Amino acid sequence: MSTTTRAPITLDPSASLHAESIGHGKRYGRLQGRRIMVVGAGQRKTVDEEPPIGNGRAASLLFAREGAAIACVDIVQDAADNTCEQIIAEGGKAFTDIADVSDPDAIAPCLERCAKELGGLDGLFLNVGISHGLQLPDMTVESWDKNFGVNVRSHMLFAQAALKTMDPGGAIILTSSIASQRANGYNPAYEASKAAQIALGRAIARAGEERGIRCNVIAPGYIDSPMGRDASRRRSDRAVTVPFGRQGTGWEVGYAAVFLMSNESSYVNAHTLFVDGGHLSGIHRVNKT
Ligand SMILES: NC(=O)c1ccc[n+]([C@@H]2O[C@H](COP(=O)([O-])OP(=O)(O)OC[C@H]3O[C@@H](n4cnc5c(N)ncnc54)[C@H](O)[C@@H]3O)[C@@H](O)[C@H]2O)c1
Repeated sequence: MSTTTRAPITLDPSASLHAESIGHGKRYGRLQGRRIMVVGAGQRKTVDEEPPIGNGRAASLLFAREGAAIACVDIVQDAADNTCEQIIAEGGKAFTDIADVSDPDAIAPCLERCAKELGGLDGLFLNVGISHGLQLPDMTVESWDKNFGVNVRSHMLFAQAALKTMDPGGAIILTSSIASQRANGYNPAYEASKAAQIALGRAIARAGEERGIRCNVIAPGYIDSPMGRDASRRRSDRAVTVPFGRQGTGWEVGYAAVFLMSNESSYVNAHTLFVDGGHLSGIHRVNKT
């Protein structure tokens, strides 16, 4: 019996990096005239001197480059303003709206303000998400409720308000995580809230169907965003086996959102799109260290 020996492959992470992966893709007008709210449109500050782009900021910029007007909602004024200013500097349309989405009473008024200023609402990208990183023995009621208040309840309330306002043909996107499927992050409130979002996404799709409104969920894997870097600082082994020898970028999450927001995905509904390089399906590098 003959055996085949394969030459060792030297992995070049840059081989899987394309213009789109780093935010340099062409513009095609895929969202021309759309009016979109992005909740969590800023990005957190980190210790990095040159921070990578976050998922919410990247999606906001890409939506605007594809022709949409953007309401940039965030709790932090500077963070939302920064996204807004970048969109305007590129010739797009955007404004900032400040809301703390952990406050249930803040949500419907925020959506109404944004829809009024946008002149209607075609799209809602719910990107906001928090993680306290507390393991089960250390979990507190306050931390658990805060995670669920921001990651799940706010999404339900935004969707409830949007379904009253949105025009047929509209699209809602929730941002879950591969943490919804696995416990390896030792982060039960985050993992459980991210799993709940997938069920919530289906429920929103169910409620939106008769009005011609779709709802889908994006579940990113390991992304080199400010949030991802904070997580890696907590857990240095977090992303050592990632597919293609690199983490994903905020732009790659943003492009998935462009697709799900546009009419290109008009028959994609109640779906969870994993943007993880195939990690959950077992495509990962062997950790030899
Ligand atoms: N980075 C990753 O590796 C990764 C992986 C899987 C999923 N995700 C998901 O991606 C989403 C966030 O990605 P990001 O890169 O944009 O993160 P980010 O933390 O940089 O940005 C989130 C934004 O939400 C805002 N925010 C936080 N609490 C708020 C509140 N109470 N009200 C209003 N705004 C609030 C923050 O100010 C920030 O600007 C989350 O839902 C997260 O779970 C990230």
